Amino acid sequence: MASNDNHILLFPFISFFSLLQINSCMAQIVKGGSWFPDSGITPSDIDSTLFTHLFCAFADLNASTNQVVISSANAQSFAAFTSDVQQKNPSVLTLLSIGGGSSNATDFATMASQSSSRKTFIDSSIALARSNGFHGLDLDWGSPDTEDKMANLGLLLREWRAAVSAEAANSGEDALLLSAAVQYSPHYWSPTDYPVAAMAASLDWINAMAYDFFAPNWSSTTGPLAALYNPGNRLSGDDGVSAWIQAGMPAKQIGLGIPFYGSAFTLADANNHGYFAPINGSAISSEGMIQYNQIAKYISLNNATTVYDSTVVSAYCYSGRTWISYDDKQTISTKVAYAKGRGLRGYFAWHVAGDDNWQLNYKLFLILPIEFI
Ligand SMILES: *[C@@H]1O[C@H](CO)[C@@H](O)[C@H](O)[C@H]1NC(C)=O
Ligand SMILES: *[C@@H]1O[C@H](CO)[C@@H](O)[C@H](O)[C@H]1NC(C)=O
Ligand SMILES: *[C@@H]1O[C@H](CO)[C@@H](O)[C@H](O)[C@H]1NC(C)=O
Ligand SMILES: *[C@@H]1O[C@H](CO)[C@@H](O)[C@H](O)[C@H]1NC(C)=O
Ligand SMILES: *[C@@H]1O[C@H](CO)[C@@H](O)[C@H](O)[C@H]1NC(C)=O
Repeated sequence: MASNDNHILLFPFISFFSLLQINSCMAQIVKGGSWFPDSGITPSDIDSTLFTHLFCAFADLNASTNQVVISSANAQSFAAFTSDVQQKNPSVLTLLSIGGGSSNATDFATMASQSSSRKTFIDSSIALARSNGFHGLDLDWGSPDTEDKMANLGLLLREWRAAVSAEAANSGEDALLLSAAVQYSPHYWSPTDYPVAAMAASLDWINAMAYDFFAPNWSSTTGPLAALYNPGNRLSGDDGVSAWIQAGMPAKQIGLGIPFYGSAFTLADANNHGYFAPINGSAISSEGMIQYNQIAKYISLNNATTVYDSTVVSAYCYSGRTWISYDDKQTISTKVAYAKGRGLRGYFAWHVAGDDNWQLNYKLFLILPIEFI
């Protein structure tokens, strides 16, 4: 496979840069998952024994001060997050995610454009993580979609890493972890690419959001939400991972995003129910998102037909004109084996409340040996 050849060719190059990485010698595998309020479960409900890292989403950027803040509605649950999830697993590490899909991308761009506002953002994020007991910070700036924004993202990350290192030296505590949720490919915002060198030098790892490839409000046909392999277009987790590695991101600093949700479409014709079948909108809401546990319920209540496609590595189910793309247990175990095979840092799930009584992740736990790295 071409991507494996590239991986081998790049290996000495990657190793050299890995030596420069502050955290590489103690790089821990990442079995991550995100939680957010109103997802249907509390932090204490999470079976944290299945995870090495849990992300608490989201802290916000206050555009008038450029400080990172936790909304008053979330103050209590976020402050208790680390102690709550450590009840079942004292060694699980927690990161405070900043931003997210519904945050204002313009505000992030404005903050990152000036050195003084970057400093305010960085200093407040570190203080907030420490005062709330988090072990790290995770940046979810969804769309740094121009050359200027990418350059400023690079500056922000380098300054963040310097500040995190200085704070650790002063406080004597372990340095805060730094990660970022990024698009599945460094070329997503083409023609401008992510600042990969700054990311590799500054972040412990990136979380590549290898999902949302097909959804009812931006696709005209059915298609796999989170294909691992190319189903006839360039949208796949493998394409993204290969592109990140080719662009210079060490494999050991890449986490593969796995959806614990699906995308529900309404078929134009109930008898045309494969991939790339014409659709007529969403089966549930305009975005069509449905948690895995609700899909499992839907399948059993409706006796829906389920299909696992081993070429694409994705599953779908259908009943009447309802068609849902999702990652089932087989999909996820194949993706985890892939992450291991390519020497990635690990994986992360959006989001933990989507699991069906921990079936998805329980499976992962069994198949992911401790010597993952
Ligand atoms: C941002 O911070 C200012 C100053 O502290 C405050 O007045 C304002 O309410 C904050 N805005 C939001 C959206 O939290
Ligand atoms: C983002 O925030 C800016 C001001 O901070 C505002 O002008 C703009 O309308 C906001 N955009 C969205 C999509 O809310
Ligand atoms: C799509 O759905 C709308 C509303 O239910 C209906 O009016 C329309 O005829 C449908 N189109 C197709 C191609 O099925
Ligand atoms: C999809 O629908 C959601 C909900 O209406 C909306 O917020 C989002 O912007 C839409 N995305 C696109 C690409 O149209
Ligand atoms: C479920 O569907 C299968 C075929 O798809 C059928 O053989 C079976 O009888 C159905 N079961 C129920 C309870 O409807």
